Amino acid sequence: PVLVVDYGAQYAQLIARRVREANVYSEIVPHTYTTAQLLAKNPAAIILSGGPSSVYAEGAPSVGADLFEAGIPVLGICYGFQAMAAALGGTVAETGQREYGATQVQIIGESRSILAATDADQTTWMSHGDAVHEAPAGFDVLAMSAGAPVAAFANEEKCLFGVQWHPEVKHSAFGQKVLENFLFNGAKLEKNWTANSILDEQVELIRNQVGSAKVLCGLSGGVDSAVAAALVQRAVGDQLTCVFVNHGLLRQGEAEQVELDFVASTGAKLYVANEQERFLSALEGVSDPETKRKIIGREFIRAFEEAERAIMAEAALEGEEIKFLVQGTLYPDVVESGGGEGAANIKSHHNVGGLPEDLRFELVEPLRALFKDEVRAVGAELGLPAEIVGRQPFPGPGLGIRIVGEITGERLELLRQADAIARAELTAAGLDNEVWQMPVVLLADVRSVGVMGDGRTYGHPIVLRPVSSEDAMTADWSRLPYDLLAKISNRITNEVDGVNRVVLDVTSKPPGTIEWE
Ligand code: XMP
Repeated sequence: PVLVVDYGAQYAQLIARRVREANVYSEIVPHTYTTAQLLAKNPAAIILSGGPSSVYAEGAPSVGADLFEAGIPVLGICYGFQAMAAALGGTVAETGQREYGATQVQIIGESRSILAATDADQTTWMSHGDAVHEAPAGFDVLAMSAGAPVAAFANEEKCLFGVQWHPEVKHSAFGQKVLENFLFNGAKLEKNWTANSILDEQVELIRNQVGSAKVLCGLSGGVDSAVAAALVQRAVGDQLTCVFVNHGLLRQGEAEQVELDFVASTGAKLYVANEQERFLSALEGVSDPETKRKIIGREFIRAFEEAERAIMAEAALEGEEIKFLVQGTLYPDVVESGGGEGAANIKSHHNVGGLPEDLRFELVEPLRALFKDEVRAVGAELGLPAEIVGRQPFPGPGLGIRIVGEITGERLELLRQADAIARAELTAAGLDNEVWQMPVVLLADVRSVGVMGDGRTYGHPIVLRPVSSEDAMTADWSRLPYDLLAKISNRITNEVDGVNRVVLDVTSKPPGTIEWE
C-alpha cells in the first residue's frame, strides 16, 4: 500500500481518498508508528500528512531521519513537508506571514519534478504559520510563495518530495496532478485499484471466511448495507438471507427499492418484517429528538432479533445453523487516526438502527477497507440500480427525526410527499451531485397562516436543507438556483395538503447541524 501517515488534522483521509481515486491502494497509519512499524507494512510509497503542530514545538510529532534512508519514495505535505525538512537538516521557522486558504505559488528553478505539467503560477490551498527557509542538502527548490521561501522541494535521486500546500484539497488547482506525478513519475506505481479489482478481491475473501456456512444481512435501504449484501450474495449466493425491517420511516419508494429492485438485481433471498405499526405506537406522544432516537433504536433491535429468530428456526428445521452476520462498516469507521478523535468516530455515535452488543454471530465486513465513493463504484459494478448506489446519506432514524414534533402516520405521509417532490425536482435539475444531502423537514409543531383561494389556511411549514459537504463533519448550504427553489416551493404548497409555506435553511455547519433534530 501507499501509507498515509496521519499527523492529526483532518487531511489524512482526504489524501488517502485522492490516492485511491488515482487507482492506487492506500492506508492511513498514525504518526506514532516507528520507522520499523512503517516498513513492516511493506509500503510502496509514503505520504506524510499535514497536522496542526509546529515542528519545533515541544512534544510535536517528528519523523525519524532513518525513514528517508529506506529507499522508499516519500512525499511530505504541509506539516509532513516541514517535518521532513527538519529531519534532513533544512531549516524551518516562522515567517511572520501566515498563509491560509487560496495562495499563489510560483515555480522556480529548472526542475519541475512533481510539478510537471502544472502552471508556472498556480493557485494552491495553504494553511501554515511556519515555513521551510532552507531546503536540506541535495534537494532542489521547486516553488515559492509570498509566505514560503521554499514551497516545494525534490530530491529525485532519493525519490523524496515535499509541498507546503495541500494537493488533496480541491481548491489546489493542480492538486491531483501533483499527487499523480508523485505516484506515477516519482514512485513509479501501477494503477491497479479499481472497482473491478476490489470486487474480485472481496468475493475471494468472503468465500474464504464463510466457507459453506449460512449468512444473515440486515438491509436498511442505504448504500452500504445494499452493497455489502450484494457482495456477499455474489460470493456465496443462496447461503445469504437478507432481512429488511421496515420501520415505516423511510422516504417514498425506498421500501420498494429494497423489496423489488434490490432483489431483482441481486437475486438475494429477502425476509421482510413489516413493523410500521409497531414503531408508530412506540413513538406515540414523543417529541423529544433524543428520546425518539432511543425508541427507534430499541425497537429496531427488537424487531431485527425477532426476524432473526424466525429465520434461525426455519434454518434449524433443515438442520442448518446461521453463523455469520454481514455489516456495512466502512474504512472511516475503523481507521486508526493520528489525532485521537476525528471523522473516524462520527458514525458510531450516530448509528441508531445498529445491532445488539451481545452478538452470537461472527461478522463479515466486506466494506471495511473502503471509502464511500468506492462502495458506490463497487455497487455499480455489481449491477445495483442507480437509485440505490447514488442514494444520498439518510439517517438511520429516518423521517422520524425530520418531523419536529410528534410523529404520526398522517404527518409521515405529508412529509413523504413533500420530500418526494423536492428530490424529484433536484434530480430533474441535474443537481444531485452538487448536493451532499437535502433533508426536507416538517415543522409539525409550528402552524402559520396562509391564504388559498378565498380562504385563510393554517398549515405547517416545510424546511429545505440542501447542503454541500465532503464528509458531513462540516457543511455549507447549497446555493440552489432560485428557479428550482421556486418550482419546489410551488409544487409542495400546491400538491401537499396541509403545507402552506416552504422555507430555505441558509445556515452552515458549524454552527447548524445538517439535520434539524
Ligand atoms: P448532523 O445533523 O449531526 O448530521 O450534522 C451529520 C450526518 O449524520 C446524519 N445523522 C444521522 N445518521 N443516525 C444516523 O444514522 C442519526 O441519528 C443521525 N443524525 C444525523 C445526517 O443525516 C448527516 O449525514
